[in-house]
Amino acid sequence: MIKGFIFDLDGVITDTAELHYLAWKKLAEEMNWQFDRAVNERLRGVSRMDSLNIIKDHNNATVAEDRLLELATMKNDIYVASLDTLTPDDYLPGAKELLTHLRQEGFRVALGSASKNAAKVLEQLEAIGYFDIIGDGNSVSKSKPEPDIFLYGAEKLELKAEECIVYEDAEAGIDAAKAGGFYAVGIGPDDRVGHADVRFDSMAEATLFAVKSHFKELF
Ligand code: G6P
Ligand code: MG
Repeated sequence: MIKGFIFDLDGVITDTAELHYLAWKKLAEEMNWQFDRAVNERLRGVSRMDSLNIIKDHNNATVAEDRLLELATMKNDIYVASLDTLTPDDYLPGAKELLTHLRQEGFRVALGSASKNAAKVLEQLEAIGYFDIIGDGNSVSKSKPEPDIFLYGAEKLELKAEECIVYEDAEAGIDAAKAGGFYAVGIGPDDRVGHADVRFDSMAEATLFAVKSHFKELF
């Protein structure tokens, strides 16, 4: 039976992808690197350093390890400053309603984000109270598609993987959920999250009612 839900943050609760994009774009401009929305799409759900390596490799650039760390810090400083623009109006449509329903129905809820800035994002949204456990990029060392962040959330919620549903918008995130033995709800197009147990185009459609209807035998 389903007793808990674990949520990815960026692209599920709020759309910080645009802010990540603008920060990487600024860094790329300073480095004279090519970077566009198609490359940015490949960074969805991917950790900061892995993202930087994808952009670097896309430009066939060679960068020393300590310089890479500097560049990651530069990008992060730009991104964190831009988070000040995020407000409680910036939930993706449907996300706040779903979190409210889960609270009303007594489900246990965790965050399972790759971001090291998850706490700041939740503060800006005033969303901390919706979560029993906050798992983020600081909680585990192996990032998605490894299942560690979701296993961390389930363990802290004192639930088994098969008692939890994971919401994810990233290909690597669905891989991570499936690898951990979780039920996976995919948010986005078929070519990205079609391997989830059930897929919705947007959070507005992925209501508790819709998910309960799909996983009838689990509720
Ligand atoms: C999320 C986003 C990625 C981002 C990653 C790390 O998974 O989808 O685009 O790279 O978090 O975020 P951070 O805030 O730690 O740089
Ligand atoms: Mg995401």
